[in-house]
Amino acid sequence: MDGLINNHGINLQAHEEGKQCIEMVESESLVMKKRSRAYLTWEKLEVAISSSDGFQSILSGATGYAKPGKIVAIMGPSGCGKSTLLDSLAGQLASNTRNSGRILINGRKRRLTYGTMAYMTQEQALTWTLTVKETIYYSAELQLPKSMPKSEKRERADRIIREMGLQDSVNTRIGGWGIKGLSGGQKRRVSICIQLLTHPKLLLLDEPTSGLDSAASYYVMNQIVKLTRQYNMTVLTAIHQPSTRVFGLFNNLCLLSLGKTIYFGPTFAANQFFAVNGFPCPDVESPADHYLMTINTDFNEVRARFKCELNFGCEREDES
Ligand SMILES: Nc1ncnc2c1ncn2[C@@H]1O[C@H](COP(=O)(O)OP(=O)(O)OP(=O)(O)O)[C@@H](O)[C@H]1O
Ligand SMILES: [Mg+2]
Repeated sequence: MDGLINNHGINLQAHEEGKQCIEMVESESLVMKKRSRAYLTWEKLEVAISSSDGFQSILSGATGYAKPGKIVAIMGPSGCGKSTLLDSLAGQLASNTRNSGRILINGRKRRLTYGTMAYMTQEQALTWTLTVKETIYYSAELQLPKSMPKSEKRERADRIIREMGLQDSVNTRIGGWGIKGLSGGQKRRVSICIQLLTHPKLLLLDEPTSGLDSAASYYVMNQIVKLTRQYNMTVLTAIHQPSTRVFGLFNNLCLLSLGKTIYFGPTFAANQFFAVNGFPCPDVESPADHYLMTINTDFNEVRARFKCELNFGCEREDES
């Protein structure tokens, strides 16, 4: 495991591609041509929280990039810093944090203007008593410019409702404790609709599929992939244990452990990276499960388990 852990940021192929991406977006000509798109790069991000013993690091040296029309999946065990990375990129870190590093959009360090970015946080609140239609219409009214005619706002809201497959639930209440309403998956889709209203160039999603079964997760993520391509959005999403099918939808993978980047690069190349470091993915294991199990902090137990599973006829320790 040490070999893998010591490899922070030494995934050369991804590192090189990231550097090229940063250089490319920093070129003025590209910035002019691609102004309607968002190339996002982040370099050496450090985040620490104030504690009784001073500052405690929760994100360390995070570096990566995201391109238009593509999705970056941020994965890692609970508490590894996924939401913190998204909060940093969105400029929404809590006040008890200290941070440093460089975040550039199209090669420039600047404040995000209206409609450039949307961020669906992990605990997005919806009003239980409103229907889907009311929720999205009111959001359109509040978020879209005053100068936009009401009919256009409604049209946009209706289109997004259709795109997220909520047309059959428009008159259903959101619901919550004691109020019957939408399913968990439908609620997540309503939250995504709200973020999509402004047609953001950069979309950050924190666990859009949490609490959903694998079929519902695939439906939600597949819709996001379609919209990412259609609107040429740059999308980053934190995700917990995606199924193999959902994992296959992502272009790039950012794998975090204890606030450090274990792997950043194309999703398809992660298998090779783990194999080269001595942790090949067993045929029967889903790649996402394998990566999470391997980088989980309880290394010794995981390692022993993997050895057994790779070796037919070997009994698991807890069964012997
Ligand atoms: N503002 C804060 N104040 C104190 N601790 C924080 C703060 N923000 C994050 N942390 C801590 O930093 C660590 C990383 O948190 P973060 O929410 O980024 O993890 P995560 O990977 O998103 O976890 P999960 O998968 O459970 O959502 C956690 O231990 C969390 O308690
Ligand atoms: Mg989180």
